[in-house]
Amino acid sequence: MFSILLAISTLLTSWQFAFEQQDHQIPAANEKVWQEVTIPHDWAIYGTFDRQNDLQNVTVWQNGETFPSIKTGRTGGLPYMGSAWYKTTISTPQAERVALLFDGAMSEAEVYVNGQKATFWPYGYNAFHVDITPYLREGSNEISVRLQNREQSSRWYPGAGLYRNVHLICSADVYVPVWGTHITTPYVTSDLASINLKTRVENALGKQITLATRLIHKQTGAVADSLVSTYDVKHNLPLEQNFTLHSPHLWSPETPNIYVAYTQIYANGELKDEVKTDFGIRSVQIVPNVGFLLNGKVRKFQGVCLHHDLGPLGAAVSYEAIRRQLLILKDMGCDAIRTSHNMPAPELIELCDEMGFMVMCEPFDEWDWGKCENGYHRFFEEWAERDMVNMLHHFRNNPSIVMWSVGNEVPTQCDPQGYQVAKMLQDICLREDGTRPCTAGMDQVSCVLENGFASILQVVGLNYRPHRYEEAYQRTPQRLVLGSETASTVSSRGVYLLPAIPDNTETITNMNMPGGNSKTNQCSGYDLQYCPWSNLPDDDFRNMDDYPWTIGQFVWTGFDYLGEPSPYDTDAWPSHSSYFGIVDLAGIPKDRYYLYRAEWNSKAHTTHLLPHWNWQAGDTVPVMAYTDANEGELFLNGVSLGRVRKLTKEEAEAAAQAGDPLALQRRYRLIWDNVPWQAGELKVVTAYGEAVRKTAGKPHHIELYEESYSKGNENLHFIRVQVCDKDGNVCPAADQLVSFSTKGTGRFVAAANGDAANLDQFHLPRHHAFAGELTVIVEGECTLTATAKGIRKATIQIQ
Ligand code: GAL
Repeated sequence: MFSILLAISTLLTSWQFAFEQQDHQIPAANEKVWQEVTIPHDWAIYGTFDRQNDLQNVTVWQNGETFPSIKTGRTGGLPYMGSAWYKTTISTPQAERVALLFDGAMSEAEVYVNGQKATFWPYGYNAFHVDITPYLREGSNEISVRLQNREQSSRWYPGAGLYRNVHLICSADVYVPVWGTHITTPYVTSDLASINLKTRVENALGKQITLATRLIHKQTGAVADSLVSTYDVKHNLPLEQNFTLHSPHLWSPETPNIYVAYTQIYANGELKDEVKTDFGIRSVQIVPNVGFLLNGKVRKFQGVCLHHDLGPLGAAVSYEAIRRQLLILKDMGCDAIRTSHNMPAPELIELCDEMGFMVMCEPFDEWDWGKCENGYHRFFEEWAERDMVNMLHHFRNNPSIVMWSVGNEVPTQCDPQGYQVAKMLQDICLREDGTRPCTAGMDQVSCVLENGFASILQVVGLNYRPHRYEEAYQRTPQRLVLGSETASTVSSRGVYLLPAIPDNTETITNMNMPGGNSKTNQCSGYDLQYCPWSNLPDDDFRNMDDYPWTIGQFVWTGFDYLGEPSPYDTDAWPSHSSYFGIVDLAGIPKDRYYLYRAEWNSKAHTTHLLPHWNWQAGDTVPVMAYTDANEGELFLNGVSLGRVRKLTKEEAEAAAQAGDPLALQRRYRLIWDNVPWQAGELKVVTAYGEAVRKTAGKPHHIELYEESYSKGNENLHFIRVQVCDKDGNVCPAADQLVSFSTKGTGRFVAAANGDAANLDQFHLPRHHAFAGELTVIVEGECTLTATAKGIRKATIQIQ
């Protein structure tokens, strides 16, 4: 092999894919089973949806169940199970050392080079790398990867295949290994910051190594500092450089300043490698009874939990689709993401760095005690430490990550020795990072308060149980409580069921929706339905407002995701995606989005009105406005229905005492309880704006527009499709089948409508509208035409 100068990282995107025919045998090259694919690739997202896919007969004891029942759609009703192969060829790299880096491979990955097994990595969410130099030969080399997904291995849709990027890294004889730099900012003030950079250099022993590092402010390109350091290397420790920066540009969600440490590595005077490490300058502290401090300022997380799938795109990672999700969340005032319950894609973390989101990074949903028959507990003993180390090395330089959560609702919480496992994992965080606090999402509050589990963690994180926060605060020495997972309110966009009263009873899980139609498999858009273990947004707002020792929350969930269709998860096919999202699976905000926006977005005002205004003569309809204004006046066809203002804490408590079921809601929402319906225009006027709902007539035509969120994307465009009446009002009940065609170089990618019970395959160019709307994703430049029977079609030019 020849020697090359600098490390080169290439994305390996062109692969062939085939399902396994015979146990552990890669299909022969001439077999017709192989198809060309582009990585990232999710083999299961194309469907078809089927009730039989991963049908699970389980007792979900976390949800309070005591006997097994058939869970339908739990993993999305998609065919993610089975074994499959990917293969590609590379010509012999001109390098001394060649490595493969997988950002994640679902799952139980076996990597072969020229038929020889190079590595195995079981956890599908983690990144791993392998040195393949010993397996390479002159000429062409075949890389193949076998993946296996067992049924009953997940509580949600995991995706399948090489769903994240694969990198080929070629280096010289002296090089910085994958994740070989570690940057910390030990002291941070607004006028001075110290920066410590550790660089691991392989094959440096006995050589004179020079590190020439420049710190560059990424947004402006300005060089902030530079340093040339020379070492006669007599050990294998990382080489350290220290910097002091004056007037540093601090990182925060509001000021996402990024620096790049650009280091050139010379061995005996010869340039051998170069490495760029993004980092941020910010301080993170947890102070008992004071709170969580970023750069010395107390703030409460306005966060959401996210699963990794991207709705109709499945688990295949897409930078632009993640960017769109984050833009939507940003506008809601969200400033934090919890990567529930697994290692995130690097694209998400990079975007959180750049767009300004704090991240609570969480690797596991199971430790040694399982939740799923074939879940991660099978690997925990042997792999947990390796998985932790990879995650920590991968992400410890990213400024967005401000906290680690070592697990979610792990059954080990209730093991009398469980705290030892928690401590072991927390200690790994301290050893490999040590700059961020550590927590876990705990739901078994009685267990963890009794057995020491809660007091061992640096931060007490409670999942739900808002009524137990005070007790947890009193009984734990940390003197702070984080809502590590909150709400799990369920709703369907544009569907309103009566009566509008808070409901978490078993009737929900029995699909006997109050006032609703049990056949619809929908939840009410009044944001009053929740699960027996969960609560409403208002409960969390109250805890954040009334308890100074709460440090914020992560709402379950920002976006709907594939799988876990509670409350329609117990033999309730065709439901197969979640109802928990603040935004639906198509990326269209539900009403709840505006409830959070009113509370969280301090930069823009919110005035939002619900429900739709297509009812029957004689109906009496509750009306709500979600707004940051304290009061508002409602008008129906120009006639005032009165002013309503939000209740104070004391008033809400008094109303609750008096038996008002919506007492707490009246603290955060404007509510007109009984509005006699009349066709026409319903309008709310607040000090900050107004919002209108109009009775829509018959579906008349389609309207298309490109979401502002996809502007700036080079490739993916998100087009909103609306079925409207002749005056342009969205028809709230429209469920037409809309067909799509494209002209030009671009192509149709997928469509989704946010209906958790809809079985249309995402990648086919026809999809039903749901509550009058849907989203289409196209790639590249084209003219998109949308047609539906009996109504006027629409066309949009996408550039
Ligand atoms: C939590 C769990 C989440 C999700 C949620 C649904 O208990 O941590 O993963 O299952 O419930 O409400």
